[in-house]
Amino acid sequence: MKPLRVLTGITTSGTPHLGNYVGAIRPAVQASRQDGVQSFYFLADYHALIKVGEPERIQRSTLEIAATWLAAGLDPQRVTFYRQSDIPEIPELTWFLTCMTGKGLLNRAHAYKAQVDKNLSSGSEPDAEVTAGLFMYPVLMAADILMFKAHQVPVGRDQIQHIEMARDMAASFNHLYGNHLVLPEAAIEESVATLPGLDGRKMSKSYDNTIALFAGREVLRKQIASLVTDSRKPGEPKSTEGSALFDIFRAFASAQETQALRQAYADGIAWADAKQMLFERIDREIAPMRQTYEDLMAHPGQIEDTLLAGASKARQVATPFMAELRQVVGLRSLRTTGQASAAAPSAKAALPSLKQYRESDGRFYFKLIAANGDLLLQSLAFDSPKEAGALVARLKQGDASVLQSHATSLASINDALREPLAQALLSLQEAARSPAA
Ligand code: TRP
Repeated sequence: MKPLRVLTGITTSGTPHLGNYVGAIRPAVQASRQDGVQSFYFLADYHALIKVGEPERIQRSTLEIAATWLAAGLDPQRVTFYRQSDIPEIPELTWFLTCMTGKGLLNRAHAYKAQVDKNLSSGSEPDAEVTAGLFMYPVLMAADILMFKAHQVPVGRDQIQHIEMARDMAASFNHLYGNHLVLPEAAIEESVATLPGLDGRKMSKSYDNTIALFAGREVLRKQIASLVTDSRKPGEPKSTEGSALFDIFRAFASAQETQALRQAYADGIAWADAKQMLFERIDREIAPMRQTYEDLMAHPGQIEDTLLAGASKARQVATPFMAELRQVVGLRSLRTTGQASAAAPSAKAALPSLKQYRESDGRFYFKLIAANGDLLLQSLAFDSPKEAGALVARLKQGDASVLQSHATSLASINDALREPLAQALLSLQEAARSPAA
């Protein structure tokens, strides 16, 4: 069975709080541990540029969010964890999609419309303070998703429209160029509660009512002490209904613990004691992660390395896929002009050939030749045909590491061969996979 690909992005414009942890980070880390799921998590720093004009804050937030996800248990070996701006293919795909997206579709985006409505009601120009970046936000987001052929995108309800737009863009692209993009679906976790904040409204940076995730034990204690409650005195029974304290507790506690607090409410627990229980319960879950978080924050270079390794993993998907898409839309090497393969890339065109041979030096080699005769790849010399054969087999399976260690890509000398090479490798893989081969 093909693995389910799940992808989500986190805008690097703030510091993660308890609501982010319960609503997004914790469920995502849990989901990433399931078998049969391939997860992509990334720091959406290009998106952050739309809202944040403070370079220090972007960098700080990127560091904090990366450290938070890692501390919360995201395993970068198991998932692909990267920073959007390390993947130059994403802005490139954004442009392709921009060219297939109706302006009218973007006019209907909630975030854009909200700003226009606000402007109109205050008597300003409709597009006052609307950058093209804000307007294009859904296109960049679609590129994030479509680049990695994500099936499911876990997001909050406010993002559902963006996923639908990504589907629309993918469908337009496929309609024009054939089936290349996967239509994604929003995955809304119904069971994950939105956490109330200190004032009882939804916990959100924009309400300034958040509880910090890793600010430290004493800050956590203080913040919880400032949580709103009603004015019932110790000894008076309390209602769990509409109690922010109770709802937050429940997001961390087992069914048994929750039942115990419910009973304590009925028995008239003092608010101060209930707050102490809440503090202890949260701190029990957070404390070990806080330690890791602090270690990571003290070693930003380590996080940088982790993200760069993630980017290189992500680009093993993005680079050949973008080469395929460039080919598909007609951004092609002129060497292939007039060839059947160029005119109809999806048709069964002449295949590139992978040749194994022995030189007069008695050693064994392989080379990859494009359908038009261009030499794309020349291997190093091997002592046995078996060795060369094994590498050829790996290449056919799409193992691009062969290129780095055992062969010279002619594309490294001649840039114009880059796309034909990527295209040839893809055709080989396809041929290896198709039952006729
Ligand atoms: N727009 C998302 C948010 O604000 C962040 C995001 C950017 C994203 N690109 C994405 C989410 C791709 C999912 C998939 O929450």
